Amino acid sequence: MIKKEFINSIKSELESIREAGLYKDEYQIISSQSANIDIFHSGVKKHMLNFCANNYLGLTNNRNLVEVAKKSLDEYGLGTASVRFICGTFDLHKKFEIKLAEFLGFEDVITFSSCFAANGAVFSALLDSEDAIISADLNHASLIDGIRLSKAARYFYKFDDMADLEKKLQEAQNHKNRLVVTDGVFSMDGDIADLKKICDLAEKYDAMVLVDDSHATGLVGENGRGTLEFCEVEGRVDIITSTLGKALGGAGGGFIASRKEIIEKLRNKARPYLFSNNISPPIAAVGIEILDMISHSKTLIKKLADNTAYFRKKMVEAGFNVRDKNGVHPVVPVMLGDALLASKFAKTMIEEEGIYVIAFSFPVVPKNEARIRVQISAAHERDHLDRAIHAFVKVGKKLNVI
Ligand SMILES: Cc1ncc(COP(=O)(O)O)c(C=O)c1O
Repeated sequence: MIKKEFINSIKSELESIREAGLYKDEYQIISSQSANIDIFHSGVKKHMLNFCANNYLGLTNNRNLVEVAKKSLDEYGLGTASVRFICGTFDLHKKFEIKLAEFLGFEDVITFSSCFAANGAVFSALLDSEDAIISADLNHASLIDGIRLSKAARYFYKFDDMADLEKKLQEAQNHKNRLVVTDGVFSMDGDIADLKKICDLAEKYDAMVLVDDSHATGLVGENGRGTLEFCEVEGRVDIITSTLGKALGGAGGGFIASRKEIIEKLRNKARPYLFSNNISPPIAAVGIEILDMISHSKTLIKKLADNTAYFRKKMVEAGFNVRDKNGVHPVVPVMLGDALLASKFAKTMIEEEGIYVIAFSFPVVPKNEARIRVQISAAHERDHLDRAIHAFVKVGKKLNVI
């Protein structure tokens, strides 16, 4: 039975989260995910321009893809009602994995219900107590949790400090296998990891490299092959993990791409693969269609890059502290510092200006580095960007930020 004191301690913890301005309110979207959304909050329906989805290519409500998804439901039904190795592998799963491997230039791909599951799987399946993981300190929570599940020794380096990485690689030299782990894009900052230097150091110290490319697959690099393409290190990174829940449709799902022996081992050892259902038919069918789309036309990738450059430039000109002024990623952090100010800014943008943006503060980002993380999409038109910039300026003046 749950004790009264247990519930009371939760209540007071929630109260202090609220008082610190860190409470995470969930607005309900009552339309499809897009540049224009309708939300329902405090009993009121409101129309909004959306600047906080990872809908990078703007495909979440693409009519053609929705039709492809419907067709797959007609053909395959809702799902497998089983894990892959028992009776849960559709031909569609295989087709998608082969296509994704080809697109990324890897030998094979294994899908998971999410990238969180993929990151939860990869380390414990591949490494043991004789091995070492050398992880960037700002890596995504799912990498951190996945690393915790492995018996390998753990070393952490400051994500952008290559001297620190080298030091940790030296310290880890006595381990049988060494794996350097980094986000391709650090999602709170929009920073792209220096994969060239990371690969140079990994080669120097005979280590493998794993990159989580969730914020890059399908959108970063001229052809959307992610940070490996952008940093010109294709063929030098051993494993990538990534999501289908952002640029590649947005419905959910994740995957790992690597050498065929590694994928084969994961199919036999990865617990979130062996003991959990895989992606549903629409996700695989839509994934195949999206890979065809972006292989044949760069229009969406180019539009996203143009939108990002425009928004970043105008916000800097307006006097905002955009975290990396030379950044190119569609994650655009508008730095505000104070958590309460950031949360008030976002609330005003939503409630008074109809611009849906979210504030991030400690512990998601370092203390005193609260921000609004704007996310640009290929679904945005120039007018959407101008309306958001105008609202930022208005609220920025009102709250004495600019
Ligand atoms: C870098 C990174 N890795 C992994 C994930 C988890 O992805 P998924 O939603 O597929 O579990 C996310 C999602 O926020 C992410 O940003």
